[in-house]
Amino acid sequence: MAEIHEFFRNSKQSHQKITSLTAYDYPTARLLEEAGIDLVLVGDSLGMVVLGHPDTTQVTLDHMVHHVQAVRRALSSSILLADLPIGTTDTVAQAVESSLRLQAAGADMIKLEGPLISQIHAIVAAGIPVVAHLGMLCQRILIEKKYEIKGKTPEQAERLIQEADAVQAAGASALVLELVTPLVAEHITRAVKIPTIGIGSGPHCDGQVLVVSDLVGLQPWFRPSFVIPKVDLATPFQQAVSDYIKETKNL
Ligand code: KIV
Repeated sequence: MAEIHEFFRNSKQSHQKITSLTAYDYPTARLLEEAGIDLVLVGDSLGMVVLGHPDTTQVTLDHMVHHVQAVRRALSSSILLADLPIGTTDTVAQAVESSLRLQAAGADMIKLEGPLISQIHAIVAAGIPVVAHLGMLCQRILIEKKYEIKGKTPEQAERLIQEADAVQAAGASALVLELVTPLVAEHITRAVKIPTIGIGSGPHCDGQVLVVSDLVGLQPWFRPSFVIPKVDLATPFQQAVSDYIKETKNL
């Protein structure tokens, strides 16, 4: 735990950007660690990326435990961050119990959506480092109906700034800012002592996180507008499969 706090403190102080990508399975996590990633996130994006649901609201704690265990087997140096899925943070006691289950499955730290101050406080007090998550919150999709950039109005910007302050005061070690206007993300990054990790929130955060399949072009049917894939893995993947089919048919 001390090492994790030190990593985040040093990254912020020395302006070393934090790198993070999602992984939900052993081979992906192993490739990420061997490439030198700082933080592997077993996100509840699992629901969409791996399980084929339209959003993250179907993901359960059992799903998360299963995938955290797989990722744990691959990692020895990168930090394993695991999401608390929807319905696991409704009370303080439930949030602590859920976090302990993810820790037992192999998570080094947990992430939870929203300014859940009492929950953050209690999870940290239970000895589990926390990453807070503000801005666009996927778990609210059924209420908000669309994925929208946050911080566009002065009221929204002010609320985000106050929430960032509050999660820091509650003991969060870092803060993910998802789909926050770059200006507000930059303001928060300067205002708080903990590192901010942005996704679709501009270049000024202390680190960046992406869903790995968006980065490597493995899901061409869904591309968030803020991601430019570094490679198009879907095409050679499908080519290999169709070559194999042809070869097998001709045996
Ligand atoms: O679940 C996830 O992959 C996430 C990232 C989008 C930050 O929370």
